[in-house]
Amino acid sequence: MGMTDIGAAILRGLDPEVAHRLALQALRAAPLPAPRPDDPVLRTRLAGLDLPNPVGLAAGLDKNGEALHGLARLGFGFIECGSVTPLPQPGNPKPRLFRLTEDRAVINRMGFNNAGLEAFAARLADRPRSIVVGANLGANKDTEDKAADYVAGLRRLKGLADYVTVNVSSPNTPGLRALQGRAALDDLLGRLAEARTGDPAPVFLKVAPDLTPDEIAMIVEAAIAHGIDALIVSNTTLDRPETLRSKDRGEAGGLSGAPLKARARAALTSAAEAASGRLPLIAVGGIDSGEEAYARIRAGASAVQIYSALVFDGPGLVGRIKRDLAARLRADGFSSVSDAVGSAR
Ligand code: FNR
Repeated sequence: MGMTDIGAAILRGLDPEVAHRLALQALRAAPLPAPRPDDPVLRTRLAGLDLPNPVGLAAGLDKNGEALHGLARLGFGFIECGSVTPLPQPGNPKPRLFRLTEDRAVINRMGFNNAGLEAFAARLADRPRSIVVGANLGANKDTEDKAADYVAGLRRLKGLADYVTVNVSSPNTPGLRALQGRAALDDLLGRLAEARTGDPAPVFLKVAPDLTPDEIAMIVEAAIAHGIDALIVSNTTLDRPETLRSKDRGEAGGLSGAPLKARARAALTSAAEAASGRLPLIAVGGIDSGEEAYARIRAGASAVQIYSALVFDGPGLVGRIKRDLAARLRADGFSSVSDAVGSAR
């Protein structure tokens, strides 16, 4: 067990939101060594971005982009900060974050607590250059015209992030997920396409797992029609599988971690079928091993992201996933992650 894993074990005993804050503070302060260079077999290309490995940090851990320098040293191939909203907002009342230990799951109803776009832009201006950094955009709770908030985020962050994610799939902001409907989506994506002219940074769209294959196919077509560069599948689920055992299973919010695995994988498969190579995909939801990362890549993902498994396993998980993935790629005769993308389709 390494130091970081011992730290994770201690954090597991604390109130989840206190543990989260302490972990971020440690990442800001700790002088971690630079990570070792990645095995070349782990290379992948994602919407024009060259990644040294396909294992990314999912949005929501560093909402304000305040620990990017520490996070850049944990071995991720890319890191996504946010969601950020134009105005600062406190989020929902506490408690709003629950660790379902027996289920290896998390329920959160944070509600986009963050310090706002200006503070976020200042952090990104001082970002590490050694790693691909994405910025995940949300909308303020009180904004009527939600699309305007994403346009504001995109404009303000021009030149600061390597990619931008439009998050229309958080279940904790009333009305947000309605932006995944065809008319609202066409309006949003049309306005974003206009706002990004002349900016080379790719724009990704992050969707919910609680969609039918037909809805996913519709979103894929809308994304392609409006020049979206990749789809992130998926955010947390509102579903509560029968298998949940932990006492907090009835809490409101989005469920993530192991019980999301099957649903997120199915949503990815639907997206891969609909896209048939026309739109790059990023897999998120319940990924906790090299085996699962490899399965998502073979199902069509160019890269993966993780969050909840880090809560239970600590940051040593990133290296373990990478080592296992590299072994699996070699055993199957692939010369890089890119070669394996979609090979199971
Ligand atoms: C999240 N997630 C998230 N996603 C997003 O786009 N913007 C956000 O602000 C947040 N915030 C957030 C907070 C907390 C506490 C959790 C656990 C998750 C969702 C996250 O990025 C990811 O999509 C899901 O958690 C599924 O992946 P895992 O956790 O199963 O690996």
